Amino acid sequence: MEKVMVTGAVGQIGSELIPVLRKRLGAEKVIAAGHIKKPEKTLLESGPFQFIDCTDINTVAEVVRRHNVDTIYHLGAVLSASGEKAPQLCWNVNVKGLYNVLEVARQYHCSVFTPSSIGTFGPATPKIKTPQDTLQRPDTIYGVSKVAGELLCDYYHRRFGVDTRGVRYPGLISYKTAPGGGTTDYAVEIYFEAVQHKKYTCYLKKGTFLDMMYMPDAINAAINLMEADPSCLKHRNSFNVTAMSVAPETIAAAIKKVIPEFELNFEIDPLRQAIADSWPDSIDDSAAQKEWGWRPGYDLESMTKDVLKNIRVNLESK
Ligand SMILES: NC(=O)c1ccc[n+]([C@@H]2O[C@H](COP(=O)([O-])OP(=O)(O)OC[C@H]3O[C@@H](n4cnc5c(N)ncnc54)[C@H](O)[C@@H]3O)[C@@H](O)[C@H]2O)c1
Repeated sequence: MEKVMVTGAVGQIGSELIPVLRKRLGAEKVIAAGHIKKPEKTLLESGPFQFIDCTDINTVAEVVRRHNVDTIYHLGAVLSASGEKAPQLCWNVNVKGLYNVLEVARQYHCSVFTPSSIGTFGPATPKIKTPQDTLQRPDTIYGVSKVAGELLCDYYHRRFGVDTRGVRYPGLISYKTAPGGGTTDYAVEIYFEAVQHKKYTCYLKKGTFLDMMYMPDAINAAINLMEADPSCLKHRNSFNVTAMSVAPETIAAAIKKVIPEFELNFEIDPLRQAIADSWPDSIDDSAAQKEWGWRPGYDLESMTKDVLKNIRVNLESK
């Protein structure tokens, strides 16, 4: 990694990955590539920023060529709940956009990191400790596009030798940038509501277990996988990674240890509940552990303390 481009730069993951990469590699070596949404002042002023549209290959190639990019973290995407509202857009951005990035990577000899998701699993997938290699028959357009993406990335590696790597992220919890329309967004909202109003109404049912991870671990996973010795990688796209399997009431119980008066209520959103019901309760990430030493640093309790503390600090400073 000498010169990196991060697409989806203004999104939940991009906005946190970029500062970490800039600290490691130097600000000028990391090109933040956003799409339409205006970036925060701190992102804009901390290094190079460009607008691209990954569905237009010329805009991707132009940045890679002009900045001599050798590594692409491709985070530009449409997420699960947003995808169900706009399936055509979801397919176009997630599949055509990725195809364009891979084509540019092939032509300009770049490595590519592309996150996949637990959304690539479907109702027929084993639900508990879902294996690395298993049945993937998702019934959301997001899942369909992400399975296609995993296969496309493997194909570009096998057929053209492009160094493609990826993880299947679970729901990601962070406090810096709001999530972008995923099914697990409740796990971010619950913390903000706990600090501000001491109560939260959840759109998923009690007992809906899903895997989750704190953002610092997600960032480490992306960087550690890209820095891993390729000869150790039997898989490439995409590794199961997880930190915890939680349901709304288990997060609420962890919050109550810090804010005892916190109250959790339910008002179910059928669209997001159906998506969550089609995903695993927990996934097995032993392949990532074995092949590139994956280990999460945070569990539910340590994450909850850190998120609540930081939300409070941010609100007070405003
Ligand atoms: N956040 C999660 O919980 C989670 C979980 C699993 C996988 N992922 C995956 O991680 C990646 C990043 O997710 P995120 O949470 O940061 O999403 P996000 O929605 O916060 O950010 C995605 C970004 O993509 C950009 N984008 C949309 N259309 C684009 C286009 N045509 N060209 C270029 N950029 C475009 C959007 O402007 C947005 O800023 C995605 O591939 C997503 O599927 C995220």
